[in-house]
Amino acid sequence: MVLSGQKVVVVGGSSGIGLSTAELAKNEGAEVVIASRNAERLNAAAVKIGAKAIPTDVTSDESVGQLFRQCGRVDHVVVTAAQLRTGPFKTVSMDDVRATMEAKFWGAWRVARAAEIRGGGSLTLVSGFLSVRPRPAAAIVGAANGALESLGRSLALELAPARVNVVSPGIIDTPIRAAMPEAARREMLAKAAAALPVGRVGLGEDIARQILAFMTVGFATGSIVYLDGGGLIV
Ligand SMILES: NC(=O)c1ccc[n+]([C@@H]2O[C@H](COP(=O)([O-])OP(=O)(O)OC[C@H]3O[C@@H](n4cnc5c(N)ncnc54)[C@H](OP(=O)(O)O)[C@@H]3O)[C@@H](O)[C@H]2O)c1
Repeated sequence: MVLSGQKVVVVGGSSGIGLSTAELAKNEGAEVVIASRNAERLNAAAVKIGAKAIPTDVTSDESVGQLFRQCGRVDHVVVTAAQLRTGPFKTVSMDDVRATMEAKFWGAWRVARAAEIRGGGSLTLVSGFLSVRPRPAAAIVGAANGALESLGRSLALELAPARVNVVSPGIIDTPIRAAMPEAARREMLAKAAAALPVGRVGLGEDIARQILAFMTVGFATGSIVYLDGGGLIV
């Protein structure tokens, strides 16, 4: 078990990529803390995988500060938390685009500032393929992802000897699309899968394995890994 004796905090760990990462870290022997807003969902996830739950809202300085005061010094931190509100560029409300940046970008920024990560430990941020493969009506998400990738490289210098990396997922089947009607969601995922060289969309576990590699490969810092089943080359 490659994470025996190590402490891992997953912010956004109650669902999707974060939950898969928390579960993998736990299976690799780590002591795992998961953090997100909805306490009921968070506690259920924590019980399921044997992690500790600390309710946290990344849009609040105080909440993020409190999380890391409770955690103390840690080995690895992962940020997957995001609430994405988007729409056509000319009409999407400023409240929506600000809310997207507040959680996805400023949330990661707050976590990076508050976490005390041991030298050689790691911080992993999660961006997304829209930074390099934009699509209409999602400019704010692409911009947030691009900003996170730039932040990750800056922090790899400034937070050294802690290591900082970014993983950019393609389309991953997680509860992030839970608000879509089920039939439309399935159709969209099937279409996406058919267009990819790997013939399937991603699973939370695919991204979790990359994050585990960032935690355990001590030479990895300032890296951005695009993990998208070939989505960027089709
Ligand atoms: N799935 C994809 O296809 C895909 C593609 C590219 C990039 N990504 C990126 O990957 C990351 C993870 O996505 P996912 O698919 O795993 O999403 P998900 O299943 O919806 O999980 C998001 C997690 O973030 C938490 N969260 C949301 N807002 C929060 C806040 N303000 N404070 C604390 N926690 C918060 C959620 O719990 P609560 O709501 O209870 O707080 C949940 O635990 C996101 O940054 C997403 O943009 C995903």
